[in-house]
Amino acid sequence: MAVRRDRIPSVKGVSALVPDEAESRTLVEQVLSRCARDFGYRELRLPLLERTELFTRSIGEATDIVHKEMFSFQLRGKDSLSLRPEGTAGAVRSMLELSLADRRPARFWYCGPMFRYERPQKGRSRQFDQFGIEAFGMSGVEIEFEILSLCAAIWRALGLEGRLQLQISSLGDESCRQRHKKDLLAYFAPHRDSMGEEARQRMQQNPLRLLDSKEPALQQILQDAPLLPDYLDTPSAERFDTLCRMLDEASIAYQINPRLVRGLDYYTHTVFEWVAADGLGGQDTLCAGGRYDGLPELLGGAPTAAVGFALGLERLMLVLQAAGTVPQAAAPHFFVVSTNEQARRCGLKLAGELRRLSPGAGVETYCGDAGLASQMKQADASGAAFVLLIGQEEIAAEKVRLKVMADGGEHDFSRHNLRAMLDWVQAQFGELADAQSVAAKDNDLETA
Ligand code: HAM
Repeated sequence: MAVRRDRIPSVKGVSALVPDEAESRTLVEQVLSRCARDFGYRELRLPLLERTELFTRSIGEATDIVHKEMFSFQLRGKDSLSLRPEGTAGAVRSMLELSLADRRPARFWYCGPMFRYERPQKGRSRQFDQFGIEAFGMSGVEIEFEILSLCAAIWRALGLEGRLQLQISSLGDESCRQRHKKDLLAYFAPHRDSMGEEARQRMQQNPLRLLDSKEPALQQILQDAPLLPDYLDTPSAERFDTLCRMLDEASIAYQINPRLVRGLDYYTHTVFEWVAADGLGGQDTLCAGGRYDGLPELLGGAPTAAVGFALGLERLMLVLQAAGTVPQAAAPHFFVVSTNEQARRCGLKLAGELRRLSPGAGVETYCGDAGLASQMKQADASGAAFVLLIGQEEIAAEKVRLKVMADGGEHDFSRHNLRAMLDWVQAQFGELADAQSVAAKDNDLETA
């Protein structure tokens, strides 16, 4: 059989991040996890693979996510498994299975890939990363205020203050939703014949989601449809008012959106979305969440208060790009070039010493046997701030030549006292940035 050598393309809607993107992403993720830790949230690493039923039961059979977007397969003809389309269901399953919130409230954050079979476009892919938080065991509205404050702290830390708008609403409790559903069905009944197949299905399975329909024929009718906030009972309405007052006092701006319909069925009471004014094109929701007290019980646990949100990392990067605040990882500081075999070995040793003396600064060495001009081209392309040159002359004099890429200046130092060279670099150019340093980057972002 002939050996095939054609290229194998990537899966549609699934892509790699090149180093510049991946490093910026890591820095952003470090800011997100630090903000979550500042609010007392602990990391939870959740499986990517779950039983399909977990999602059908939690997210809702009639939702687009479950109905059309899951990557599911039959395991050896038996169990149906799915790649997780979101993190909440798995977080609740883990919380119940591992008794993570049995005796006291618990706060978690997670970050990682999710999978949805959607039509790829700007800000929408089939594999995407979410950063999310879930908090269990707190029924008071203070926890909603806390997680919205956490969102606001994240935007501040990333230089996005004022670029995202918070929209909130309340779905009330089950009895409010039942009364609303009855009126909604009565309102739409006379229009049934003019509805498309999808809207008719929504009407049957979850009429609330009709409010979110994009069907052109429905748009006019939707304008006068009964809205859920008008059906809130007194305790639910007071609960929502309290949250609004807390946001006012904290100067977190918001807009009440009575038409806010989430694409997942597990919500109750508070729901919210942070939408971006620019950067996302058609996909303007960056971050979304709310309360989902009924879910732990639906998944076989004791009644447990629950609230959370998730934001899409790809969308967050687009918003950061539009704001011009994408954090950049530092390039390696030093690039070692050498002129012959003996100098090369000397350069390798020197690079090792430098890494030991200055961890995090980044030391790259030239590998191969090209001439100096070609090595210098590579040094330039690496973005290194300094080139260390070792040639025959340097070996003989036991020194190393430091070239400052910014001004082309060349300075000689003893090879036996690299510390003196580092001190000189620091005195001239300031603290050697640690390419991996969260603290340094965070500070940059916060003062941006
Ligand atoms: P969601 O609204 O389905 O909520 O997704 C949250 C965020 O994930 C979206 O606002 C968006 O930024 C990102 N996202 C969703 N789908 C895609 C996609 N195909 N491509 C790129 N980004 C996407 C949830 O997932 C809930 N689990 C949130 C939650 C947590 N509620 C309570 N706790």
